[in-house]
Amino acid sequence: MEKMILIRPGSISSDSRLGTILDAMDLTERVDEVIESEEQLHPIQSRKILFAISLDESGINLEWSRMLGTIRRDPWFFYGCTGGVIVDGVSELYTKSVGREAVLTANLAGCMFPGRGLVEGTGSLHNYEVAARNLSVDLPEAYQIYARELENRLSNFVPPKFLRPKILVLHASIRETSNTLRLWSMVKKHLTDSMEIQEISLQNGEINDCIGCPFTTCLHFSEKGRCYYGGVVVEQVYPALEECNGLIMLCPNYNDALSANLSASINRLTSLYRRRQFYDKYLYGIIVSGYSGGDIVASQLISSLSLNKTFILPPGFALMETANDPGAIQEVEDIEEKAKEFARKIRHQMCIGK
Ligand SMILES: Cc1cc2nc3c(=O)[nH]c(=O)nc-3n(C[C@H](O)[C@H](O)[C@H](O)COP(=O)(O)O)c2cc1C
Repeated sequence: MEKMILIRPGSISSDSRLGTILDAMDLTERVDEVIESEEQLHPIQSRKILFAISLDESGINLEWSRMLGTIRRDPWFFYGCTGGVIVDGVSELYTKSVGREAVLTANLAGCMFPGRGLVEGTGSLHNYEVAARNLSVDLPEAYQIYARELENRLSNFVPPKFLRPKILVLHASIRETSNTLRLWSMVKKHLTDSMEIQEISLQNGEINDCIGCPFTTCLHFSEKGRCYYGGVVVEQVYPALEECNGLIMLCPNYNDALSANLSASINRLTSLYRRRQFYDKYLYGIIVSGYSGGDIVASQLISSLSLNKTFILPPGFALMETANDPGAIQEVEDIEEKAKEFARKIRHQMCIGK
């Protein structure tokens, strides 16, 4: 089996909690290089990488911060790699934010992530309450099982390719004025020859947010292919999502977040997700901010749809641009070239022989 590289910044003693997890995973046969410091870090191509990040009481790992700096300076740093991340914390906070920051940074440097590419251990391990109950094990054992399962999935991951992929595009913008929709149209014209594209607007009609039904009620609706609320999410988005091989989210930055309709429709996927997961589908994002903060919106897509809802995160999954006034996206330097290159990446990733 292909060997992996283990990046564990700051060296982890084997009597620490993360050290115990890694020891129990018995990686010696499956890892051929261990990188513990920024000085040892070097560009890596076409390899599987397991990141194991241990945080201190304040949620910081200084060696990892130094590594982030090096990775961010080179957009090809992890060209062709596939990754998985384990973040272990002492407190209840920051494991998720450090994890998704690691995923975003590595992804923008060319690293792909299979769905659910992050395993976290909060200080108390209370994040494994439900998993431990379902598996009839204690909290540390549940953590161990999840970490081993991630490593297994990473080892066996083969990205899917398609003859003529089906793409679902979700948006909630107004066509005449939206910079985000205009940027999508620049990308789209380079995809139509090789893909089947379906666009769904969440602008028309009211999108109710998830009401948070009890588990059994949600399951009951899920088995019938429905949700407590009906409407466009159930009637159009569910079937299109089941059919598609890739999802492109068109995201204007609204108060450093996804807009309300997009966010609500992601929450409403829970019912469909109970019936089928999305490990076989790619996630892409086109994000336009008026001023700044594209990385925050990208992180939101990563945690909601890839880390939680299991979509594959292909390398460089998001095209992020800044344009404020209506039509201003046209004025961004080399924008047509950037759109064309983003479309080329999508075709190269998803299509057989492209
Ligand atoms: C309600 C609202 C909130 C916004 N919040 C932000 C923001 O927090 N940061 C930012 O950079 N731009 C913000 N913008 C500007 C948009 O991101 C900007 O207009 C961009 O072109 C994308 O929107 P569009 O596709 O609708 O044109 C906001 C716009 C609206 C309408």
